[in-house]
Amino acid sequence: MKQGLHAIENASRDEIAALQTERLKWTLHHVYRNVAHYKTAFDQAGVHPDDFKALADLAKFPFTTKQDLRDNYPYNMFAVSREKVARVHASSGTTGKPTVVGYTKKDIDTWADLIARSIYASGGRPGDIVHVAYGYGLFTGGLGAHYGAEKLGCTVIPMSGGQTEKQVQLICDFKPNIIMVTPSYMLNIADEFRRQGIDPTSTDLRIGIHGAEPWSDAMRREIEAAFAIDAIDIYGLSEVMGPGVANECAESKDGPVIWEDHFYPEIIDPLTGEVLPEGSQGELVFTSLTKEAMPIVRYRTRDLTRLLAPTSRSMRRIDRITGRSDDMLIIRGVNVFPSQIEELILKQPKLSPHYLIEVSRDGHLDSMKVNVEIKPEFAFASGPEKEFVAHDLQHHIKSYIGVSARIEVVEVGGIERSIGKARRVIDKRPK
Ligand code: DLL
Repeated sequence: MKQGLHAIENASRDEIAALQTERLKWTLHHVYRNVAHYKTAFDQAGVHPDDFKALADLAKFPFTTKQDLRDNYPYNMFAVSREKVARVHASSGTTGKPTVVGYTKKDIDTWADLIARSIYASGGRPGDIVHVAYGYGLFTGGLGAHYGAEKLGCTVIPMSGGQTEKQVQLICDFKPNIIMVTPSYMLNIADEFRRQGIDPTSTDLRIGIHGAEPWSDAMRREIEAAFAIDAIDIYGLSEVMGPGVANECAESKDGPVIWEDHFYPEIIDPLTGEVLPEGSQGELVFTSLTKEAMPIVRYRTRDLTRLLAPTSRSMRRIDRITGRSDDMLIIRGVNVFPSQIEELILKQPKLSPHYLIEVSRDGHLDSMKVNVEIKPEFAFASGPEKEFVAHDLQHHIKSYIGVSARIEVVEVGGIERSIGKARRVIDKRPK
């Protein structure tokens, strides 16, 4: 039997398509009327909102990119007057100005509903205690999770990120059942438990809801074993809303379900922009269906994945994000994603999931170095033993990915820890 917090999660595909069509019409008219950027972009592309009659017509409309948001900094992408904007969030880019997003009261309410739905899909129920360790502030993680957990009827602990010792104390004393935190920081919390001599499987935690950065199934197994919990994937991005654009279901754990009553997904070829057939790997593009303050049309997420058929709900799922098109490293002509390296690291029983990839250029040639920590239980491994592990990883990277890498197996704690999204790559090559 299909389950879910909201009836729409189990609606027929026809019903969902009809709702999407109606909501897309509204969105296209709303942006054309109220956002100068969209009026100009649609006019230049020679399309009008009236040209949209069926879902496939969306492909006629132009994409929106992060650059468009930057060019309209801070408030020019808003489709309502500033007074109707109840809250702003922002995501810090690697360069220059942050990307600003805005929400009306109703948008915040929808967002809370979708997080409530996401926590429910993860196995959470009203009455559960939810520890939020996503950062509070301009980042959408903390406040987004917070409002949704309250909406579901949970008791919320607004811990935010950082203060790892205190995280452990609150988890032990306040006895949360659910933790919402990035997967990399969850592993840091596990290390801190062990450092304090506390068994991380001894808590009341039942569920971890992890996202905001790429992670793998191997990392899921690592987290689940460390805490004896179910680790569930939550996906989202500020430009489209924040966390809760898609969330995995606990009963199937087969990739985040896109909440398709609020977001319309497409997969495109990142080079040509062409919409790809269902099931193809490519770049994920989203159009918001109900957002008032900052609706977004065909936003290029840069996230690479594919759409999967519905299983536990009537809505389509996304496969694990294999990387971002702008994260891809080209090493001596070979395309390398950090997630591929992570997968091979996690196949080594003696290596921890803490790693950092350094890319540099020696003369004309790119070189890649992978720094990776030994697991605490093998901390006293001898030099030759570490050498053997390094050699094995090097061999796997060469044979599976096709690049030569230098491997340095470092001591426990040798890789800098993040309190939010982990930094996995340092690219020192001259631009
Ligand atoms: O990271 C929103 C969020 C907060 C999602 C908390 C989940 C939990 P941004 O800072 O705008 O928003 O970053 C969005 O993070 O385009 C992906 O590249 C990546 N990302 C988010 N969730 C996942 C996930 C938040 N589950 C960018 N798997 C996105 C892989 C993810 N990557």
